[in-house]
Amino acid sequence: MMEELQKENVYIKDAERVEKLLCQLIQDGKSKLQIITDFDMTLSRFSINGKRCATCHNVLENSSLVPESKKQVLDELRDTYYPIEINAKMTIEEKIPFMMEWWTKAQSTIVACNFRREDLTRAVRESNAMLRDGCDWQFSTLHEHKVPMLIFSAGIGDILEEIIKQHSQMYANMRVVSNYMDFNHDGMLVGFKGDLVHTYNKNEGALRNSDYFTTLKDRRNIILMGDSMGDLRMADGVPNMQHILKIGFLNDNIEERLEKYKEAYDIVLVSDSTMDVPNAILKKIL
Ligand code: C5P
Ligand code: MG
Repeated sequence: MMEELQKENVYIKDAERVEKLLCQLIQDGKSKLQIITDFDMTLSRFSINGKRCATCHNVLENSSLVPESKKQVLDELRDTYYPIEINAKMTIEEKIPFMMEWWTKAQSTIVACNFRREDLTRAVRESNAMLRDGCDWQFSTLHEHKVPMLIFSAGIGDILEEIIKQHSQMYANMRVVSNYMDFNHDGMLVGFKGDLVHTYNKNEGALRNSDYFTTLKDRRNIILMGDSMGDLRMADGVPNMQHILKIGFLNDNIEERLEKYKEAYDIVLVSDSTMDVPNAILKKIL
């Protein structure tokens, strides 16, 4: 077992199985590999010096362009629905209607703020959204080795791309599935495009993107990274999958959720602000 996997914040329920899985991924090599990852709180950092970092939505919500009255609405929505998102006792099915409500209400409030396309760069720059340490290395290395990376996010596509551009680089091997903003011909935000992606309907989004997975059908090994139980479904729709290694970042409500995460994810990283573990694994495979 690699040194990085022996740190005390790394939880592996079945070490023997994970070791076998890693050996298989290493043996099959980079030509069989693809990465499927969540964005908010997986590629992006959860907190810095005890303070929460912004999600894609928070970047807009906290922006100076949002009037106080709207900020209050968005804060109240977060206080109502985020505890449901991370509740350890409710089932995914029970959470789904609440997530639909949160995303729909937040999106219409954001749309009512008259954002313009050119405001996004500034909003990201003024926010404390940032990538985990080691993302920059991971992105450039996956690009260099031509390993495809699907970023599957219930956040906001335009914002996550801007966060990646400001802190690293968007590469040609990256493909994003997310909620994209719809701007009119004057550059004014008028809505969001396509089907809504929220934390717990990524399985549906995965099936809608089966064309993408079909083009990668020879890449039968997956490394999946997420921070939510909903992220486990991001690889639904991958044809001929052979091996999947699931790496989960557990950032919040830790004690209540650790057991479930250990059941669901092969490797659980608790309060880890880095990409050290996934990167150590990639170094062995590439
Ligand atoms: O990229 P990911 O799928 O993780 O993006 C979803 C995250 O965005 C959720 O974990 C949720 O907490 C957060 N969110 C938010 N504000 C909203 C809706 C979702 O911060 N209005
Ligand atoms: Mg997330």
